[in-house]
Amino acid sequence: MAALTALTRSLGQHCPKRSRFSFVSQNIPSHNSRFQTLRTLILEPSLSQSVKLHRLSDCDSGIVEVNLDRPEAKNAIGNDMLRGLRRAFEDIGQDSSARVVMISSSVPKVFCAGADLKERKKMTASEVHSYVNYLRSTFSLIEELQIPTIAVIEGAALGGGLEMALSCDLRICGENALLALPETGLAIIPGAGGTQRLPRLVGKSIAKELIFTGRRIGGKDAMTIGLANYCVPCGEAQPKALEIAREINQKGPIAIRMAKRAINEGIERDMVSALDLEEECYERLLDTKDRLEGLAAFAEKRKPTYTGE
Ligand code: COA
Repeated sequence: MAALTALTRSLGQHCPKRSRFSFVSQNIPSHNSRFQTLRTLILEPSLSQSVKLHRLSDCDSGIVEVNLDRPEAKNAIGNDMLRGLRRAFEDIGQDSSARVVMISSSVPKVFCAGADLKERKKMTASEVHSYVNYLRSTFSLIEELQIPTIAVIEGAALGGGLEMALSCDLRICGENALLALPETGLAIIPGAGGTQRLPRLVGKSIAKELIFTGRRIGGKDAMTIGLANYCVPCGEAQPKALEIAREINQKGPIAIRMAKRAINEGIERDMVSALDLEEECYERLLDTKDRLEGLAAFAEKRKPTYTGE
């Protein structure tokens, strides 16, 4: 709820015509006067007890928020949450109106405490194998979304929680962020992409130190080593992420998707083949209406209105 409060406050500032911002939910009765005034945020029917999907509307339509809400276990990813995450990202992947995703937590001082270690204790080795594979493929699904993804990290992002953030394009930390891959302390390794994504982001040497020691680092350290894009004062990660989401949301949607593809796929190739990919992505934009709209808006000294065509 804290995240929503910050979001609603921030949204109120963004939509200047509105004197006061609130939201409606399909789950919240309309007679509740706190929620009935304005329609700016739409909550989807619950995907699981612990994962909520919000599609922002009005001037922010295109921005989607996946909100983690399992306070009793500090957002540890149990089976129910994992199913909810999977469903949320599958839905987003099929939603052509989605332009940018934020993953946030409504649990104070925690982004996500990683795998649910209480459920894990009851699993057989084969169940652990299936769970970890499902977690890894779910995070790959996040990484492979065509639209930008932003992890909003206030507080602890540990183990699978950090691995989820690593599968996002951007990470915005509050100063109270605490990031670590503590798996070796549990006699396992990060199994949901952490051993591969962390070195690509911060370099092999720093990644090895963080994984071998399991050391917890703060938001400022994360920014220094390139793990976080921003470190902002406590409580301001959500509004900062929303500010960035809004910037992205105003750009040409196909251009954003092509830029993400060119960067993500190109970085895995040699330069010649990567430049071929860049050409292919650029070509895809040549016949778009949005490209012509961008040029017209420039000539007419106005803001462009992009439709994603
Ligand atoms: N799996 C299952 N339950 C978890 C959990 C996890 N990963 N992380 C926290 N919880 C549970 C705690 O067991 C506790 O349950 P209880 O009330 O039944 O005892 C509850 O969440 C609150 O946790 P607590 O440690 O009291 O909260 P805190 O605010 O002091 O610390 C964390 C929060 C996230 C820093 C701390 O819980 C932690 O370090 N968790 C372990 C994270 C971890 O090692 N993850 C890596 C998995 S590979």
